[in-house]
Amino acid sequence: MAKRSPVRFPLMALGMVALVAGVWGGLMRMGWGLPPVRPDLAAWHGPLMISGFFGVVIGLERAVALGRSWTYAAPLFSALGVLATLAGPSGPLLLTLGSLVFVAVFIRIIRLEPTVHAATMGAGALSWAIGNVLWLAGWPVHRVVLWWVGYLVLTIAGERLELSRLLRLTGAARAGFLAAAGLFLAGLVLTVVAPAAGARLAGAGMLALTLWLMRHDIARRTLRSPSGLTRFIAACLLSGYAWLGVAGALAILYGGATAGPLYDAMLHAVFLGFVFAMIFGHAPVIFPAVLGLSMAFRPAFHIHLVLLHATLLLRVAGDLANWLPGRQWGGLLNALALLLFLVNTARAVRRTAPPAGAAP
Ligand code: HEM
Repeated sequence: MAKRSPVRFPLMALGMVALVAGVWGGLMRMGWGLPPVRPDLAAWHGPLMISGFFGVVIGLERAVALGRSWTYAAPLFSALGVLATLAGPSGPLLLTLGSLVFVAVFIRIIRLEPTVHAATMGAGALSWAIGNVLWLAGWPVHRVVLWWVGYLVLTIAGERLELSRLLRLTGAARAGFLAAAGLFLAGLVLTVVAPAAGARLAGAGMLALTLWLMRHDIARRTLRSPSGLTRFIAACLLSGYAWLGVAGALAILYGGATAGPLYDAMLHAVFLGFVFAMIFGHAPVIFPAVLGLSMAFRPAFHIHLVLLHATLLLRVAGDLANWLPGRQWGGLLNALALLLFLVNTARAVRRTAPPAGAAP
């Protein structure tokens, strides 16, 4: 089994700090009058969520899986970047360093396992680093945000491709995946010179990836599994794919948006609807693997999943109809869904903590 470093607990805790501070900043940005942790916290919402929370959590997951000490440097720089962002001006440099080390981690992974799924996840890591380098060079967040979308979308798509190996994909299915991922990547590259056209092309790539995942993911079969956990994971995956499709359609329609309700709808369809549905589904498997704790599936997990989707529908409807209360309440209730997820997850861990001395 891979070696687990003792730093994983403080790192995961700092990831959670990024999540809480990031959501706090998002709520401030939405107009809820919360006391600021730092005066301009709202401006740091995006970097804290992507390079802070997801930088730490995904970096930590890879480091634990590889079991090499140096790979912990990626989540460590991201975590230090979170602290630096909350305390002073040096956050962007550390967050960018975290993503560059993460690219090095993926070079190592691809050398060990030269597969399409590893390369797809590696492209996700590279996408994150490119976005961060451009941001560090002074580009505004709306010009780099699709590279950050690429980080999460390609990481998840690569993971799903890896698991769909169990279905023994045909050559045509593999070619379809490469075409969809290639279209999405071409859109990201195009954003550098033509932001709106690039966003539209990336949106078409997201739609193509949605169709591929809906058609080929093993989740369609596992939705009828006798295991409650397996059915829950399938529900997370399939509902998340639907949001990826919505995000793709919105990017095609409103690719030029750089702030405001349409920008909000496009980004959060993917970040909350797609990415967090994946997190909800994978948490009962990933948290025990990363932290070495056991966790039981609880039917109450369905509550945070349904709450996330229902409140995101309210928010996106509010965005599209330019109806401020719908958008604001939807955003606040999105935060509640994330909080409920953390509470339900923590309760599931505590109830099943292994007795002292038991193997993790
Ligand atoms: C849970 C509740 C959340 C709230 C209340 C929230 C709120 C907001 C708001 C109000 C904006 C600005 C939109 C505009 O220009 O009008 C925004 C932008 C953004 N959000 Fe969120 N958000 C949330 C969750 C997330 C999550 C989970 C992620 C990522 C995983 C995320 C990433 C971003 C990014 C990258 C931007 C662009 C920032 C920029 O342009 O400076 N948000 N969010």
